[in-house]
Amino acid sequence: MHNVGFVEPEDMNVTSGKRRYTSLIGYCSSKLAQVMFSSILHKRIPAEAGISVVCVSPGIVYTNVARDLPKFLLAAYKIIPYFVFNAEEGSRSTLFAATDPQVPEYCDTLKADDWPVCPFLSQDCHPTNPSEEAHNIETAYKVWENTLEMIGLPSDAVERLLEGEELKCQYGIS
Ligand SMILES: NC(=O)c1ccc[n+]([C@@H]2O[C@H](COP(=O)([O-])OP(=O)(O)OC[C@H]3O[C@@H](n4cnc5c(N)ncnc54)[C@H](OP(=O)(O)O)[C@@H]3O)[C@@H](O)[C@H]2O)c1
Repeated sequence: MHNVGFVEPEDMNVTSGKRRYTSLIGYCSSKLAQVMFSSILHKRIPAEAGISVVCVSPGIVYTNVARDLPKFLLAAYKIIPYFVFNAEEGSRSTLFAATDPQVPEYCDTLKADDWPVCPFLSQDCHPTNPSEEAHNIETAYKVWENTLEMIGLPSDAVERLLEGEELKCQYGIS
């Protein structure tokens, strides 16, 4: 869904009225924002830290995420099980990302090549290039900065956390 998303950094929650909010716009934009945030996180974490940042697509999975879909789409989910994974099948690419030794190697290669976006695995566990818009690094940096600000973390949060400092998000605290 991130392929059809668009993030307006000054209006990340689609509340300004410039774009009409729909759940589809919110969903697709949040998926793209997640890829963009991950790209900057991938850049900020030094190779020596031994931490890999990977975005993973699980495929189309029949979970509660589908509960608010229009009824005809819900019916389609149920009658085309060949294309729709159950939750167990849908966990495959996430488990692969978390356990296969090739994944950290792949992440290290992208980091060494200064590849602009984060590692991304498709539902069939293959390295994949995120959308063209995900390569918009200027927007990705703004998404990073705005997100840290929204959750009350300082701009050097990654560096401070890696040094062992304890930092707490302030989301929801007025
Ligand atoms: N299913 C798909 O086809 C699919 C495809 C691609 C990507 N994804 C992504 O995979 C992720 C997991 O989705 P899923 O399919 O497993 O959906 P899900 O069954 O609806 O699970 C979503 C989980 O997020 C929790 N959650 C929702 N809103 C929350 C909030 N405001 N604060 C804290 N927790 C919250 C839910 O908690 P409760 O159960 O307590 O509500 C639930 O455990 C999502 O990011 C989704 O976009 C899903």
